[in-house]
Amino acid sequence: MKQAKICIDRDFLVGQVDKRIFGSFLEHLGRAIYGGIYQPGSPLSDEQGFRKDTLDLIKQLQVPIVRYPGGNFVSDYHWEDGVGPKDLRPRRLDPAWTTIETNQFGLNEFMDWAKKAETEPMMAINLGTRGFEDAKNIIEYCNVKKGTYYSDLRRSHGYEEPHNIKLWCLGNEMDGPWQMGHKTADEYGRLAEEAGRIMKMVDPSVELVACGSSGMYMPTFGTWEETVLEHCYEQVDYLSLHTYYDNVENNSRDFLASSVAMDGFISSVLSICDAVQAKKRQKKKINLSFDEWNVWYHSREQDKKVEPWSEAPHLLEDVYNFEDALLVGSMLITLLRHADRVKIACLAQLVNVIAPIMTDDTGVWKQTIFYPYLHACQMGNGTVLQTLVNCPVYESKYGDAPYVDAVAVEDKENRTITLFAVNKDLEEDIQADMDIRQYEGYEVVENLVLTHTDLKAENTKEEPDKVVPVSGKNAKVEAGCLKAVLPARSWNVIVLKG
Ligand code: AHR
Repeated sequence: MKQAKICIDRDFLVGQVDKRIFGSFLEHLGRAIYGGIYQPGSPLSDEQGFRKDTLDLIKQLQVPIVRYPGGNFVSDYHWEDGVGPKDLRPRRLDPAWTTIETNQFGLNEFMDWAKKAETEPMMAINLGTRGFEDAKNIIEYCNVKKGTYYSDLRRSHGYEEPHNIKLWCLGNEMDGPWQMGHKTADEYGRLAEEAGRIMKMVDPSVELVACGSSGMYMPTFGTWEETVLEHCYEQVDYLSLHTYYDNVENNSRDFLASSVAMDGFISSVLSICDAVQAKKRQKKKINLSFDEWNVWYHSREQDKKVEPWSEAPHLLEDVYNFEDALLVGSMLITLLRHADRVKIACLAQLVNVIAPIMTDDTGVWKQTIFYPYLHACQMGNGTVLQTLVNCPVYESKYGDAPYVDAVAVEDKENRTITLFAVNKDLEEDIQADMDIRQYEGYEVVENLVLTHTDLKAENTKEEPDKVVPVSGKNAKVEAGCLKAVLPARSWNVIVLKG
């Protein structure tokens, strides 16, 4: 059996986990909003039209933040269309997804929904077809108490108290030629600087995310980050990263190695942030917001057949399989391993659109990727320990990929250490040993394993429980050492408590 030696030390810390790295994303896209979280008239919805079944699952996940309203959608969005009396709200073309937006759900509904979902908003503004004047107006509407045009407009809409939204994205993927209002790095950097400055004048307590590259393979990657930050370093707090992986080539070993690429992406962007910091002789560090990440490819062919200009069509409805859940697990581990600098991240997205949660008119079900996300949200809190994994590697299109991805998180208050580990070996179990003599008396109190014989197994409405976690029986502490068998192709969570 292959061996993995996992080394931790209670004094060698990566950093405190910022809960917001377990965030997610809801875009006005397909059935994410309409039919996903909002379906007035449905017996499954509450008096405001919010789907109670999706709300329950989102509360179970404990999603800390939800990015809204886009995505590509936001780059031509007029938020004013979605506030005030519903019968006066315009129907608009959404060129980003070639659909019709009815505007029956908007900013205030989102804030009401977020309260019920026990989550915080991460609001994106339109810097595609709009500019810094609009940035000022939306923050005035949301965060100013009263006595000005937009704050009083909000009050006239029934929201006496300000929403006090703390986290804002300055546009979306502005480097992408597909983006409405796509810009050069200089154009965007200047705009982000102006918009950020005016927003912080209105509310100095807000935190701002500037757009980094929409992927590491964009031709402008690197220079984009540098140029944008040269313009707006002083105004912003985070730089964004986006990535989606696919297994179009049906090469599972390469696919599962994608976390190597994600890790390199994070390190590269950090180097650029720190280089600009040095050039500018700045004290402040720019941290990262990995505000779109997931697997996305299953629905691509289906999406080409969707009737253009329809309302809430089935778009980006990837049906996830077991190997996707393994990669999502590895991506969560990668984010945790960078907890010192990755402070925000959003699994894209949350409901129906490349999502862990699916709905139809009669109920909800959990996709395979729901489970690693659930475990990380619920058990990934505390301080990340530097976790060295000494194990065999295999050759992949990203270079050497370790068979085991792992990270340990210590929760001092509850006296727990949680080890998250993925075994990417498709055929063989791996024996993992972790010396825990520093944690005398700690025992295994929980061991969850997600595995399946079929990498392509899916959870569907008809068969919702094909891929579900089970309790593992192969993890124990012996003479100060955690000894665990990580089954071939598996996501594992082992909780030790002292
Ligand atoms: O999440 C789907 C889309 O992916 C988003 O709208 C966009 O930002 C990205 O390209």
